[in-house]
Amino acid sequence: MTIRNATMADSEAIRAIRNAAIRDSTAIWTTEELDTSEGAAWLKPAVDRGTALVAELDGMVVGFAVVHTVSPYSGYRRTVENSVYLSDAARGHGLGTALLSGVVEKSREIGDRTMISLIEANNAASIGMNLKSGFHRAGFIPRAGEKFGQVFDLVIMCQELN
Ligand SMILES: CC(C)(COP(=O)(O)OP(=O)(O)OC[C@H]1O[C@@H](n2cnc3c(N)ncnc32)[C@H](O)[C@@H]1OP(=O)(O)O)[C@@H](O)C(=O)NCCC(=O)NCCS
Repeated sequence: MTIRNATMADSEAIRAIRNAAIRDSTAIWTTEELDTSEGAAWLKPAVDRGTALVAELDGMVVGFAVVHTVSPYSGYRRTVENSVYLSDAARGHGLGTALLSGVVEKSREIGDRTMISLIEANNAASIGMNLKSGFHRAGFIPRAGEKFGQVFDLVIMCQELN
């Protein structure tokens, strides 16, 4: 397993993993999959700022961690949010923690101040990964969103980087 910086050449592999989560999971609260250009537009700001990593196994991208600023408002320019997704077979072996910890370091190096994670409250793997990567619980919003006819609570976790 190799973890390396993502490039725009990884956009389609990242889009495939993200679209699978949109289709099949409640980790991301939308049902609208991204097409090729939307996937590239989502990835590009993170590649440009150097806060996007992929995990590769036998030449195949099996997961990613991508960090974006949380808002276009200038006051939020050092406040960022992460997205970490693995293909099914890659889960449960420490890879999510390695990717998230890696992207935390990338963010720290470029001067990001605070990183947040927005997590469906029943997502124990994501909460565990965040705890192991240095995040702490910062908030809980009951009935924050919905998908597949169910309403979900949101856990907010954060880490101060600089
Ligand atoms: C969330 C995700 C990225 C975590 O990555 P991972 O490689 O599976 O997680 P790790 O193996 O690094 O696990 C970290 C910790 O989380 C906990 N954990 C992991 N999988 C778990 C599970 N299925 N159930 C409960 N706790 C779990 C454990 O405490 C684990 O630490 P340990 O193995 O030392 O006990 C991955 O499971 C995934 O892609 N899930 C679907 C997409 C998703 O939910 N993304 C996050 C959106 S907020």
